[in-house]
Amino acid sequence: MERYLTWGYRGLRGCLCININFNKRLAVKPVWSFIVFWGVLEGVFLNGILQVNDKQHLEIGGCDTVELAAEFGTPLYVMDEGLIRANCRRYRQALQRYYRRGGKVIYAGKAFLTLAMAKLVQEEELGLDVVSGGELYLALKAGFPAGDLYFHGNNKTGEELQEALRAGVGRIVIDSLPELEELLGLIRSVQPQEHKTAVLLRVKPGVEARTHDYIQTGQDDSKFGLSFAEAKEAVRRVLAAAPFLELKGFHCHIGSQIFEISSFGLAAQSMLRFMADVRAETGYVAGELDMGGGLGIRYQPEDKPPSIETFVQEVAGAVEKAAGKENYPLPELLLEPGRSIVGEAGLTLYRIGVIKNIPGIRRYCAVDGGMMDNIRPALYQALYTAVLANKAGQDPVEKVTIAGKACESGDLLIEDIYLPAVEKGDILATLSTGAYCYALANNYNCHPRPAVLFVRNGERRLVVRRETNADLVALQES
Ligand code: LLP
Repeated sequence: MERYLTWGYRGLRGCLCININFNKRLAVKPVWSFIVFWGVLEGVFLNGILQVNDKQHLEIGGCDTVELAAEFGTPLYVMDEGLIRANCRRYRQALQRYYRRGGKVIYAGKAFLTLAMAKLVQEEELGLDVVSGGELYLALKAGFPAGDLYFHGNNKTGEELQEALRAGVGRIVIDSLPELEELLGLIRSVQPQEHKTAVLLRVKPGVEARTHDYIQTGQDDSKFGLSFAEAKEAVRRVLAAAPFLELKGFHCHIGSQIFEISSFGLAAQSMLRFMADVRAETGYVAGELDMGGGLGIRYQPEDKPPSIETFVQEVAGAVEKAAGKENYPLPELLLEPGRSIVGEAGLTLYRIGVIKNIPGIRRYCAVDGGMMDNIRPALYQALYTAVLANKAGQDPVEKVTIAGKACESGDLLIEDIYLPAVEKGDILATLSTGAYCYALANNYNCHPRPAVLFVRNGERRLVVRRETNADLVALQES
């Protein structure tokens, strides 16, 4: 009994198994039935985009993951395009519904960006946040309208600024006073005549969001953004450069993978107080307030992030309330979600290789990828759950640790997960890998980066081909 309880609890990490076995288990094991029922009540993991077919294989977007692995090889990123599009729409509709003054949703490309993704973002009528010359190049190459690009970065180089000016990006988000000076220096020579470059100023709202230290950004001690005092000085300088620059408003971003929406409320208050101060000192009234991204997603069944609608409603409400308190005209509201648009839409498929049993200690199951395609467990101690894709209908029976194949002891994708009996050749799917996995992928140990597939309604398309060994040396001189 106790064994089942433990398994049941741990099994929730892969509650697919629980949901799937509902009928079978309900009849025979009362403990399971409770846990199963709880699993069902919790809602099907990943918005129901995952299913199990009659071969007992895991499906995403109507495609059999075991077949995808056989056809395209492993490791393999698979993204449910339908869910990505649905999330884009939910953001746009929620902003329309909950914020009187209106605004714009800008997808943060750093979470996951490919040519196909940039096209999707354009089709869904979102803006795009780019953070480097490379992302800017990719977006333009995909045909993304420059006017809907928001150019971020804490250390934009002179070349990057020139590229942004030449392209005519919609907004340059100024992050420091030196950057502003560099921009002003370049503007006369680079900017097409009669064109004004629209800018936002990125401000640190002095709010510490509850998330991993490495992904907090709104606190005073951050490499991103201007302090309030610096931002006031920047306002004066931008206003003085009026023939060339147009100050559209302010930006803040407090961090990422945040569940506590109250942090965004505090940031909104802090920003509106600052904006009222600026108005009192300079007479400048901002037309736009960009509250950044940061909404967390569900990595494990027990995670309960707020919904996109709740998040937008709360942020919009907090901005309206703070503006009311400061008697400030409502600015347009901009939001920059990344993770919450793509994160839950992706999974990564691996093939199980060597299994090493260390009696009484641990059973390591090694996969053919690891920190090269998902560095988040090693970098942020991020927790993931997984499903044995070719045994998705089977009960969890053993506790294993999923090890990557990089030459690092810390390259463990998941420690202590309960799975059906794992054998060499099985296909493992780690869930919620759509954000900051492909984007952070690397070639450590000369491993080629995986391919990326988009799936939707039973159809799949390759959007990034797998790197080859030849690609690895393509840039090198002998
Ligand atoms: N806007 C700005 C200015 C940002 O810096 C970020 C994320 C976003 C929007 C999007 O935030 P999101 O909605 O995705 O939370 N590599 C880390 C996350 C780094 C986030 C960087 N900035 C991770 O894997 O958790």
